[in-house]
Amino acid sequence: MSNGNTIIAFFSRRGENLNVGSVEKGSGEIIASMLSGMMGAPGYQIRTENGYPDDLAECNRIAKKELEEGMRPALKDPLPDMDGISNLILVYPNWWGNLPMAVYTFLDSISTDGLSIYPVCTHEDNGLAMTERILAKAYPKADVKKGIALRGSLVQKDPAKAEEELSGYISQSGLKG
Ligand SMILES: Cc1cc2nc3c(=O)[nH]c(=O)nc-3n(C[C@H](O)[C@H](O)[C@H](O)COP(=O)(O)O)c2cc1C
Repeated sequence: MSNGNTIIAFFSRRGENLNVGSVEKGSGEIIASMLSGMMGAPGYQIRTENGYPDDLAECNRIAKKELEEGMRPALKDPLPDMDGISNLILVYPNWWGNLPMAVYTFLDSISTDGLSIYPVCTHEDNGLAMTERILAKAYPKADVKKGIALRGSLVQKDPAKAEEELSGYISQSGLKG
């Protein structure tokens, strides 16, 4: 089934991560392709000009600095065509209890007026944390829906289970009957 009014935007990082070692594909990237298959909707990867290092400690340090300084790192790619899009499935990792700052660069660059946002958060212990509320406060014109949290290590080690959870979320959310 094709969903012309839905897009899946995702931020995800390859390299070393918590509880998974060094991965070829980040958990969010895996999830985004599962969602594209389920929804028949396009994906857009939120990438920054500078990228993030594979080394976890170094990435932690950069991400923390970006968060503390409220940075909006420049995006590498042109924005997706948002014409006619009413549903945004937003896939992001929990980074320090928040979203990667690049996700805000993306959201600041598009119109969120009347946009339904479905948060899909990967994490290693803290779930969605406050990210649904943070998003609702930052983008008051959007309708931020109840999100879903998935452990990145589950996505990497048991993708079938992760896909089952995602499928349940998509049905419950009303995105697809
Ligand atoms: C910079 C950074 C900060 C993180 N902070 C948290 C955190 O506060 N809580 C948590 O549960 N997981 C945290 N994680 C783990 C990621 O959320 C988790 O590994 C996620 O699956 C990564 O998604 P990805 O593979 O799509 O990049 C952090 C990871 C990184 C790299």
